[in-house]
Amino acid sequence: MKILSIETSCDDTGIAILEQNKKIKVLADYLSSQNDIHSSYGGIHPSIAKREHTKNIFPVFMSSLKKAHLLKKGKTEINPETDIILERYPELLEELKYFFNNYEKPDLQKIAVTTGPGLEPCLYVGINFAKALAINWDIPLIPVNHIEAHILVNFINEIKEDVFPALSLILSGGNTKLFLMQKIGVYKELGSTRDDAIGECFDKSARLLNLPYPGGVEIANRANKVKKSQFKLPRPMINSNDYDFSFSGLKTAIFYELKDRKLSKKEVNEMCFEIENAIKDVLIKKTEKALLEFNPKSIFIGGGVSANKKIQKALKDLSKKYKIKIYIPKYTTDNAVMIGVAALLSPKSINYDNLKANSNLNLND
Ligand code: KG4
Repeated sequence: MKILSIETSCDDTGIAILEQNKKIKVLADYLSSQNDIHSSYGGIHPSIAKREHTKNIFPVFMSSLKKAHLLKKGKTEINPETDIILERYPELLEELKYFFNNYEKPDLQKIAVTTGPGLEPCLYVGINFAKALAINWDIPLIPVNHIEAHILVNFINEIKEDVFPALSLILSGGNTKLFLMQKIGVYKELGSTRDDAIGECFDKSARLLNLPYPGGVEIANRANKVKKSQFKLPRPMINSNDYDFSFSGLKTAIFYELKDRKLSKKEVNEMCFEIENAIKDVLIKKTEKALLEFNPKSIFIGGGVSANKKIQKALKDLSKKYKIKIYIPKYTTDNAVMIGVAALLSPKSINYDNLKANSNLNLND
C-alpha cells in the first residue's frame, strides 16, 4: 500500500510517498523551504508563504512521483469538480490539468494532508491540492494533525518496547506542548505556551540580535562558540505550579539588555548562550516535574527545536536519571514523511466536503 502525504502548514512545502508492508519505507521525501524568503522579515509572512506553497507544490509533487518511480505517461479523465476545488489557484489548476492529461493514475492508494494547526491560507493550499488529487484518482483522503504527526514520526521504525504512557514534547516554531500519550490516538494535554512558542522565542530573540531566520539554528551555533555568559536572563514560569510556558518575557528582557548598547561579536555569542540556557532550563524543569508526577515509561520529542543539541543532551540526561527511554526523531523540522506516518498509524476519516483547515486544531479534535 502506498500513500502520498502533503505538508503545507507553515513555510515548508513537503510531499512524501511511503510504502507500508510490514515496515514503513520512505520512497520519496521532498521539501521546498522558504527560509531565504522569510529571512528578511525575521519570521513568516503568511500571504507570502501561501504564494510560495502555490508555486512550489506542483514541482515538489512531480519530483516525489519521479523519485518513487510512479510517473507513468498516459491520461486521467478530469473530474469537473477540479475547477471548483482549485478556482482560487489558477496556475496550480493549469499544472494539474497538464498532469492529468499526460499521466496515468499512479500506483497510490491513499492521500494524507495536514489540516492543522498552522497558518490557514497555507494549510488550504495543501488541502485543496490533496482534494483535487483524491477526487481525480478516486482514493481516500486522510486529514492529519501536524502536532500528532511530529510525535508519531518516532514510530516510523517499529518500536517494540512498552512505551506508554509516554511524555511527549512538541517544540516547534508554532507550538510548545507537553502531553501524555496513553497510546497512539489518546492524548492528555498537560500544558502549552501562553504566548510565544519556543521556536518563535528563538526566532524573535535572533531578530533582536540581527541574526537571520530561522533564529534557533543561528543562536545554537553561536552559543556553541562560548562556555559562559556575562548576561543573566529570566526563566519565565520556571517555578509555576503547572505545565504551561511563557516565552514572550524573555524577548522583552533581551530588548532591555540591548537597549543603548552595541554588542561585540563575542558578546552576541554570550547572549545566544544565555538565551539557549534560559529556554532549556525552563523546559527541563517542567519536563522533570511531569516525570515525577506522571511516572511515564518514555519521552517522545518532536518539532524543529527538538533538533537543538543542548536541549537533546539535557533531555537525554533526564531520561538517564529516571531510567526511561527517550525517542528523538530523525525528522525533527517540518516534513511530509511525518504526515504519512500519522495517517497510517492514527487514521481519521472524513469526507472530502467536510475537510477544512483549522489553524487551532487540538490533539483530540
Ligand atoms: O517544526 P518546525 O520546522 O516548524 C514549525 O514551527 O512548524 O520548527 C521551526 C522552528 C524555528 O523556530 C527554528 O528556529 C527552530 O525550529 N529550530 C531550532 C533549531 N533548528 C530549528 N531551534 C533551536 N535549535 C535548533 N537547532
